[in-house]
Formats: sequence, C-alpha cells, structure tokens
Amino acid sequence: MTVKEHILALLDSNKGEYFSGEEIAVQLSVTRSAVWKAIKSLQTDGYSIQAVTNKGYSMSPQTDILSASAISKYLDTQGQKLRVEVFKTLSSTNEAVKSLASNGEAEGKVILSEEQTAGRGRMGRKFFSPPGTGIYMSILLRPKLSATDSALLTTCAAVAVALSIESVSGKETQIKWVNDVFMEGKKVCGILTEASVSLENGWLDYAVLGIGINVALPSDGFPNDLTEIATTVISENNSYGDLRNRLVAEVLNNFMGYYEQLTDRLFLSEYRKRLISLGKPVTVIKNNEQLKATAIDIDNDCHLKVRYENGDEEYLSNGEG
Ligand code: BTN
Repeated sequence: MTVKEHILALLDSNKGEYFSGEEIAVQLSVTRSAVWKAIKSLQTDGYSIQAVTNKGYSMSPQTDILSASAISKYLDTQGQKLRVEVFKTLSSTNEAVKSLASNGEAEGKVILSEEQTAGRGRMGRKFFSPPGTGIYMSILLRPKLSATDSALLTTCAAVAVALSIESVSGKETQIKWVNDVFMEGKKVCGILTEASVSLENGWLDYAVLGIGINVALPSDGFPNDLTEIATTVISENNSYGDLRNRLVAEVLNNFMGYYEQLTDRLFLSEYRKRLISLGKPVTVIKNNEQLKATAIDIDNDCHLKVRYENGDEEYLSNGEG
C-alpha cells in the first residue's frame, strides 16, 4: 500500500477521530511532509478531510466515498478473499476487468469506479454512470460452467442485489426478467455479464459480472429519457454516509454465498418471489418480426415461457420481459 492508501484506510476506518501529522508519520515511518502531501492529494480526490490545528486530521463521518477499506469493513469471511480496487473514473469497469481477465488475472478481482465515461448496458445501450451517486462494479469470475449455464450468474446476481438493496433501504424490490432490479415500478439496477468461452471445450474461460446501481439522484437529476423509467435506492440525498460502501459489500457477500453452489440454484426461490414479468405481455422479436405473447412461467434455468396469440408456447433465454 502507498502512504496515501495507508492514510485513507486509517482515517476511513476511524471516521470522526483526529490523528496528528506526527502520529501518522511515526506510524507509517515516513516524514510529516509525506503525510501532508498525501492528505492534500486525498482532499483533491474529493475526500472530506478536516485539518484542525493542535488536533490533526479527521475524516467526516458523513463521507460517502467508495473505498476498498470501507467496503472491507462490511465483507464477510468469503468476501474478504476478493481483491477490491476502486477507481475515480474509468470508461467502463467491465472493460477494465475484461482486459485484466485476458491477461490472466485470477478469479475474485473486483473493480469499482466512482464514475464511468462509457458505461455499457445490455443490447448495445449506454449505462448512465454519473460520479458519486451510483455503484458501478465488475467482478471477475472463472466458474466451471458451460456457456448455457452462464445465465445463472446474472440471475443469481439480480437476487443478490435485490436482497442487498432491501437490507440497506428497508424497501421492497422486484425483478423484471431477465435481470433488471426494480423498486416501485422503476429500474434501480442493471446487470451486464460478458463471458469468454473456450473454443476447445465449450466451458467458460471467464465471466465479467457488471452491476450498475443507482443509489442516489445526481444533483442534476436523471437525463430526460430516464426520469420515467429509472429510480434510486434512496430518495433523500442529504447524507447517506457509508451506504454505498455497505451496499457494495452486501452485494458481494450475498453473491459469493450463492456462487459457491451456483448450480444448486439456491437463489431461485428468491428470484421467483420477486419476478414481476409473469402474466404480462411481451414482444418477441424474431427475424425482425415483432410477435405478441404473454409471459407465463420461468423454468429452473430462468428461461421465460411465453404463449403466443396463436397458442404456441416457447422458452426464451434472453431478452426483455
Ligand atoms: C443494463 O441495464 O442494460 C445493464 C447495465 C450494466 C451496467 C454496469 S455498471 C458496471 C459495469 N460496467 C459497465 O460498463 N456496465 C456494467
């Protein structure tokens, strides 16, 4: 860890407490000027660190900046094995993790960014990723799964997110097939899994599980095209303290819990409970033709069973309900 990272971890895990420059310098075996430089650099990064004469430096308890050390405080034993890294800005966390994956990075790397300049959604869409108010996170997995079973990662992640949002907000969530998490009729989280399959044996080489959660409303609000369809975990932005760090850890804890025994599908009953797509009309696009159908069931692989107007039935594996 660098001096800056050490100081961040110290202040972050003791928010509201003061540490003198001298004290920190001795603890880290560096000069006071190195401490001062690191503090300045953290302040420039946006951390709310007060410097008070005769008392020292302290981080405000209301600071809500994502940090690996703050997240780690809430991770359970299994979560502690993950290697979490937080960036200030990235084009896309999925892109960053994919590039690590193709260079041989081991399973368990997690990358978060305070903002994404080119956040990606499903079906070639963009994912709105403004700074400071969301969670944009990608997890590198190397499961022993066939390409077909890889869909389980995404559905399992949707359940992990749903449970986590419920636990930090006390509000209900729903899941819209395949994997959008909703609150009060609007989307609060989207998930994009990008996988690479080995051509030799058809097993996954790696999967990058990308999760985007709107936690609080950005000061300029949502762009016009999202106001009617998107929502946030919390409605009051005044001070949400450590909520994002806590939520990240909850999602990782919940996800890793299920991931251990993914093919046992322990998450499926929670998925079914929250699914809002059944009984609703769906438009199926086939060969550029739009077909009207009704969603009637999901199977154990979370494939959606639909019934067309002519009575024919079919299972869909991908798309939007
Ligand atoms: C969707 O709703 O269409 C999926 C959105 C997925 C967004 C997340 S944010 C973190 C990760 N990085 C990306 O570029 N996309 C995913």
